[in-house]
Amino acid sequence: MEALSPPDFVLLEWLARDPGTFRDRPPSVDAPAVQGRSLEALARLGYDVESHPVNGFRLRHGVDAMDRQRVQEGLRTESLGRFLVCHIQTGSTNDLAWALAADGAPAGATVTAEHQTAGRGRLGRPWFSPPGSGLWVSVLLRPEWTLDRAGLVTLGAGVAVSGAIASFGVECRLKWPNDVQIRRHKVAGILTESRTESNRIAEAVVGIGINVHQEIDTFPPELRDIATSLCIEGCRVERSILLQEILNRMEDVFALEPATILKRWEERATGWGEPVRVETGDETFIGKMVRLTETGALVLERSDGSERTIHAGDVHRLRKA
Ligand code: BTN
Repeated sequence: MEALSPPDFVLLEWLARDPGTFRDRPPSVDAPAVQGRSLEALARLGYDVESHPVNGFRLRHGVDAMDRQRVQEGLRTESLGRFLVCHIQTGSTNDLAWALAADGAPAGATVTAEHQTAGRGRLGRPWFSPPGSGLWVSVLLRPEWTLDRAGLVTLGAGVAVSGAIASFGVECRLKWPNDVQIRRHKVAGILTESRTESNRIAEAVVGIGINVHQEIDTFPPELRDIATSLCIEGCRVERSILLQEILNRMEDVFALEPATILKRWEERATGWGEPVRVETGDETFIGKMVRLTETGALVLERSDGSERTIHAGDVHRLRKA
């Protein structure tokens, strides 16, 4: 487990950039108007900011703010996170990533926000994204994959996220199709959106939400029994370092053969052989989870021995008889 050990002050290098564009800007001293707006936004979110005569604006000791420089200094990737924008507040980082894509940003472009006002999850559900407490990040991919591999994007991201969390000493498991769990409580979710061209995935945005610093009583009551955070599980980690680890792992995972991605996912998943109920929206199926198909669909074995392949749905664990 890595201790939270930020430097005395975290230099807010990213305050220098205009949050509206993807182009880098000169150091913060050249952009006082942007800085002023950003500082106000940070203060509204409750961050403790001070000005330093030499180094510009800094957060006071102990505050964990997403820091582009800190993320990038340990990146081993070719593309993921090389173009990185850290916003203070936005609706959804997935929307920002799509806007970057439309602006011609490079594959691997990554966008984070301290706070999402309209974070979204799978099936249009809201995603609780309070300021400063989670890693809310979206990554733009141009995977050159055929459509039948679309499901592998989420599964591959899950392998990377769960591996990163585990590397900080926390035992976590994957739940089909897009959850990361600790003690069967959701710590992270993945939302993949894609734009297709004929039979190919032209672009995909992988949105990842990880609960990092929340205490249990800061979750809305309806989430308290089903959600958790790394902090609740005894893990203190800087979000910038967590993101760095995820990006490094994600690039490695997406270079693997599909069969290997599936195998890694299955090894990290929970619930094999257990009875589950799967709700697809129109139908409900009951059976044992037995494996994934080569496109990442879930195969259930029913009580009569027949198999049913599920392409999308919510899995609920049934108590073992
Ligand atoms: C889910 O479990 O349903 C998926 C949750 C995905 C949440 C992340 S947070 C960053 C990105 N921006 C969003 O609006 N959603 C994803």
